[in-house]
Amino acid sequence: MAVQASLMKTMMDVIGFLFISIGMIVTSIVKCLMPSSYKPFKNCKGEIILITGGGSGLGRLMAMRFARLGATIVVWDINEPGIQETVKLVEADGGKAHGYKCNIADRECVYKTADLVRKEVGNVTMLINNAGVVSGEFLLKTPDHLIQRTFDVNIVSHFWTTKAFLPNMIENDHGHIVTIASMAGHVGICKLVDYCSSKYAAVGFDESLRVELEVQGIKGVRTTVVCPYFIQSTGMFDDVMSRFVPTLKSNDVADRIVLGIRREELYVMMPTLFRYTFWLKWVVPWGMVSMFLRNLVPDASPHQVDDKVKSEKPLDNGTKESNLTAIDSNFHLHQRK
Ligand SMILES: *[C@@H]1O[C@H](CO)[C@@H](O)[C@H](O)[C@H]1NC(C)=O
Ligand SMILES: *[C@@H]1O[C@H](CO)[C@@H](O)[C@H](O)[C@H]1NC(C)=O
Ligand SMILES: *[C@@H]1O[C@H](CO)[C@@H](O)[C@H](O)[C@H]1NC(C)=O
Repeated sequence: MAVQASLMKTMMDVIGFLFISIGMIVTSIVKCLMPSSYKPFKNCKGEIILITGGGSGLGRLMAMRFARLGATIVVWDINEPGIQETVKLVEADGGKAHGYKCNIADRECVYKTADLVRKEVGNVTMLINNAGVVSGEFLLKTPDHLIQRTFDVNIVSHFWTTKAFLPNMIENDHGHIVTIASMAGHVGICKLVDYCSSKYAAVGFDESLRVELEVQGIKGVRTTVVCPYFIQSTGMFDDVMSRFVPTLKSNDVADRIVLGIRREELYVMMPTLFRYTFWLKWVVPWGMVSMFLRNLVPDASPHQVDDKVKSEKPLDNGTKESNLTAIDSNFHLHQRK
């Protein structure tokens, strides 16, 4: 009897799941077909948006767009002149921005600066984990400290920043955690072993955090993961060789991200086509996947003068520097605020 009852319950669960799923699919198709003017947009006015790595590249472009929508911007970076430049650009445009120098790889620095932001600016309502670095060399040629740095900046820091700001968002039942990951969070690329692993982790971070918030019944805090293909002129992948799929223009990417965040999309993939083709990788023979990836990105190394490491953040005086030692010392220079 007990067995029958539990079998009955399982069947009911499955049937219930199917019915609810059909409902959700129909709803999402209807939403898809609605003209975009009917779709709800997040009003960014009054939001306090913190952008890590906002002192250059994509972070700065997002800062300017959100400021124009009426949000107060908080820029975090290790590059002080970069921070000042972003703040200046936003203010010149009539927006509000505050800059803080913080090394997000340093947990204590994150917590301390977060307290400072809360006191001086207010409750952060949107956190954009944007800062990222790339080494771009064969695994065995990548020095240990750069591998460590890739993980510290690209993923471990997300834990500290999220732990710093999420509790407040939950209390106010209003917030948005945005993870800037990458297409490299879905496929492996040669010379990007550390980078890809950290981005896979970032994709997992977003998804598990979202499920966790849903399990806890927290409806007001959203998450979005952004997975762009290689982007031009952010200082990161400028010289990457990519065939067939053109590398993306940073302004287009920033526009798309802002739109995706305002629509509270869960996944923002660029180009969108990739979203509908990724699953193929689990179906076709590995040789095909490998052939495709190798031809698509013949060399992911961000070449510079001597094929060394490049950082997303320019040196203090704004000059881009490919010298390994230079970047590293620059990094340690800012370990302590
Ligand atoms: C900030 O959040 C706290 C709850 O964590 C709340 O008590 C306070 O009123 C909020 N401040 C503003 C300005 O909304
Ligand atoms: C920037 O710093 C680098 C290395 O410290 C130096 O070689 C270069 O001359 C500096 N450039 C400017 C414009 O100050
Ligand atoms: C890199 O920088 C270090 C110290 O600043 C210097 O000794 C070395 O010669 C530089 N190497 C290159 C290739 O510029």
